[in-house]
Amino acid sequence: MADPILRLERLSKHFGALRVTNELSLDVERGEVHAIIGPNGAGKTTLISQISGALAPDHGSIVFDGRDVTGLSMAQRARAGLARSFQITTILPNFTVLDNVALAVQARQGHSFRFVRAVNRDRSLTDAAAAHLETVGLLERAGTRAGSLSHGEKRSLELAIALATRPKLLLLDEPMAGTGREETERLVAVLKRLASDYTMILVEHDMDAVFALADRISVLVYGEVIATGAPEAIRENQKVRQAYLGEEA
Ligand SMILES: Nc1ncnc2c1ncn2[C@@H]1O[C@H](COP(=O)(O)OP(=O)(O)OP(=O)(O)O)[C@@H](O)[C@H]1O
Ligand SMILES: [Mg+2]
Repeated sequence: MADPILRLERLSKHFGALRVTNELSLDVERGEVHAIIGPNGAGKTTLISQISGALAPDHGSIVFDGRDVTGLSMAQRARAGLARSFQITTILPNFTVLDNVALAVQARQGHSFRFVRAVNRDRSLTDAAAAHLETVGLLERAGTRAGSLSHGEKRSLELAIALATRPKLLLLDEPMAGTGREETERLVAVLKRLASDYTMILVEHDMDAVFALADRISVLVYGEVIATGAPEAIRENQKVRQAYLGEEA
């Protein structure tokens, strides 16, 4: 791989005696949906946190878009194009869906939240916000109070907010968690559409969603990547089946 968007090299993190990330090396190609799967406690969220900058690794390096970001803050990484969605975005429940996204567009342009009351009068912000809402299939809810959206719709709104930051890499940690079947299908369709324009790391337990979306899958067990490959290769990998996919040895 000539020019990965993300290169993790010998990343390590421990909590006390527990090695949660163990000399982990991984490349994410530009344009791919790279799923990371693995049992509960395997270290997936901890890994995402180190990539986003929420957690510092003990050692190892993170090169993003050709630049070593290991020492950069979360805000600096966000400005460089790393967007983490789900479990971290705070939707403003009393603002409309459109205003929530318009605020994110404004923040991306470097303004502060002091202008919160003016966002819905700025056409350049609302047009950009509407385009992101259309992308995630939420445009008809633009005028709705964000707090009254369904769970799945909130997930879509969070996605639109992430898109407003113009990410080069989207980090998605369990976007389907807690959504019903119908909403999961809708989210998969939305992510499928996004996949043609965005590079994503997708942490997800819903294997139907993973196999529907991923170009490549890495399997994480006890902080180590035990296999990386195309979905079919992962499905047939004996080590993976024994460790994770619930197959008897
Ligand atoms: N801040 C912390 N302090 C101590 N231990 C932690 C901390 N965060 C996570 N852990 C532990 O590290 C291990 C990996 O946790 P992590 O949340 O990364 O797993 P995960 O793969 O995301 O699991 P899940 O699939 O359940 O979301 C777990 O054993 C967890 O209890
Ligand atoms: Mg997790």
